[in-house]
Parts: sequence; structure tokens; C-alpha cells
Amino acid sequence: DMGGHDTYMHKEISEQAEAVDRVLRGRIDDRFATVHLGGLNLEPGEARRVRRIKILGCGTSYHAGQIGAQLIEELARIPADAEPASEFRYRNPVVDPDTLYVAVSQSGETYDVLAAVQELKRKGARVLGIVNVVGSAIAREADGGTYVHAGPEVCVVSTKCFTNTVVAFALLALHLGRIRDLSVADGKRIIDGLRRLPGQIDEILKTEPEIKQLAKQYADARSMLFIGRVRGYPVAREASLKLKEVSYIHAEAYPASELKHGPLALIEPAMPTVAIVPDDDLLEKNRAAMEEIKARSGRILAVAHQVQEKADHTIVVPKNEDELDPILMGIPLQLFAYHTALALGRDIDKPRNLAKSVTVE
Ligand code: F6R
Repeated sequence: DMGGHDTYMHKEISEQAEAVDRVLRGRIDDRFATVHLGGLNLEPGEARRVRRIKILGCGTSYHAGQIGAQLIEELARIPADAEPASEFRYRNPVVDPDTLYVAVSQSGETYDVLAAVQELKRKGARVLGIVNVVGSAIAREADGGTYVHAGPEVCVVSTKCFTNTVVAFALLALHLGRIRDLSVADGKRIIDGLRRLPGQIDEILKTEPEIKQLAKQYADARSMLFIGRVRGYPVAREASLKLKEVSYIHAEAYPASELKHGPLALIEPAMPTVAIVPDDDLLEKNRAAMEEIKARSGRILAVAHQVQEKADHTIVVPKNEDELDPILMGIPLQLFAYHTALALGRDIDKPRNLAKSVTVE
């Protein structure tokens, strides 16, 4: 049942405020400025002994994991990184007893992720799951974890589950941070930010008519560049994946800091750039990158907290706490990918050559 929407993708994008509300519900502890994640199965003493966190997933879940790793580093100050599970399992990884492994999956059935979890368990590692489908293979195989409560996702490309997975990582990061060195004041600040998300998502969704117009203007591109820095970079990667999956326009994501090391050579009017420009301590750096692109006659669409003079167009999104900004900045670009695909007449819910769960290698 599409509930009045033409596609599941559109329905699922539109459901994100309620979905985020669900992942937060019943978990916030205002008294201790923390959150409780019932199924984590990680005692405070164990949480304090974790020296590293390694996040594994594929596709969109891997990108959610990249934002998750940054959230964990920022809020819990535990070194963390994300890697495609499909690569990890083939490189005879060093499995370290002080590392906590986190497997991320919407379906909970992705074969490469499941195989990585099984290999880790076989070597005695502790593995948590951040999974959407309750009772799925990865959820069952993990030692503990949390469900992301995005609800059923039918469209082959992931949208609402991406957002909820990132929020689930913010909860895990806050939980670990408050067991370690995150202050009460910072815990409260993040909780307030989390509570603002559903309302801010609704604000973004209201700008859909504008985004639809922009998508029509960029739908003639043969290829697009997506750039961001630090918090913005995984957002750029996910937005680029979304665009290529549903519109079949080639898209490539690059750290804005790497432009001079190669991709500037591609810039011309037929190669537009989408720039993720949060209002944080890297704002000036991002503005300088846009200037470089403009100087080479590149078209720029910015996603930012205020209108960007250097860009041809800006999609303005509401500001949250710096750490939580990536959660919101990807949402208008889901709509951008959707409307680009619609303008090009693509089969949005079932892109060619793709399957919802990849249960084979
Ligand atoms: C992208 C997409 C895929 C999945 C990937 C992992 O829109 O849908 O990249 O994210 O196949 O799937 P899960 O999360 O089910 O493990």
C-alpha cells in the first residue's frame, strides 16, 4: 500500500519524521543526559574497555556507518572507522580483542555482511548489529545491538532506513560518550538536537516543490560531482549513490579537499557539482572550493544552512548541532535523486540490475 504516493521511494522519503521519532522513542534518559539501548548487551565496564570500533556494511548501510564512525569519534572519542563488509572479509583482517565490531544492514540478510559477522564470531570478536528487519540473520548472529525501527522499506534504494541508521549511531555514540568522557552539558545538547530532528525533517520535506524544479534543471547532466568535507563527505557519497541508482546519471563523490588533486580537471558546464556546505568550522574551506569550481565555469547546487553566493542554487536546510547536521543534509538529496529519476522516466522503485537484498556474493 503506497498510501497515496506514486512510488514506495516517495512514500518512504515522506515517512522520515515519524521514523526518526520511532528510533528515539523510549530511549532518552534526561536525568543522566544519555540514552538506553535495551539490546546492546554491553556492560558499562566493557564499554569503557573498547579501544576501537570497526563498522561494517555495504552500499547505503556502509555510508551510514561512515557517518556513524564520525559520530562515535566526536561524541565518545573512540577511534572508529567504517569499511565495506565485502572488502573486509576478503583481506584476512586483524581481529583485535579490544575492538568492538558493528555490522550495519537494513535487511539483515546481506550475504557479505553476514559472512563478515560469522568470520568475526569464529575468531572470538564481539559484534553488535544495527539492523532494521527484526529477527533477520544478522540480528540473530550478532551478540547484541539495536534495531533502527525505520519500518518496512520496499523501494530497492534505501532512504528512510539510512536516516534512521544514522540516528541509531548517534544514540550509540551518545550512550558510549556518556559512559566515558562526554559532559552532561554536551549530552543534553545532543539530546535537544535529536528531539528537533523530526520537526526539521518535516520542514525539509515541505521544500519538495523547489527541489523538483531544481532536479529538472540538472537532469540533463551526463555526470555529476558531489563534494563535502569531513561530516559532509559521507553525505556526498550517499547522495551520489542515490542519484546513480535511480536516475542512472553517473555521479562521483569526492572530498572537497581533494579537488585540486584531480577532479578539477573534469569541471565544465556539462559537469555540475553538488556541494554539501554545513555552517560549521569548515564553511570557509567549502566556500573556497566552490570558488575554484565557479572559476572553471562549473554549475553548483549547494545544500547549506544559508544561501551560498558562490553557488548557482542553494537548498537551505535547518541547522542542528554540528555533529547531527549530516542526518538532515542528505534528505533533500534523496528528493533530488527521486525527481531527477522521475523527470527521466526511470523505474524508480526497481532500478535496473539491482535487488533489495543481496543474499549472494
Ligand atoms: C542503496 C541500497 C544498497 C544497500 C546494500 C546493503 O540504496 O539499497 O546499496 O544499502 O545492498 O543492504 P542492507 O542494508 O540490506 O545490508
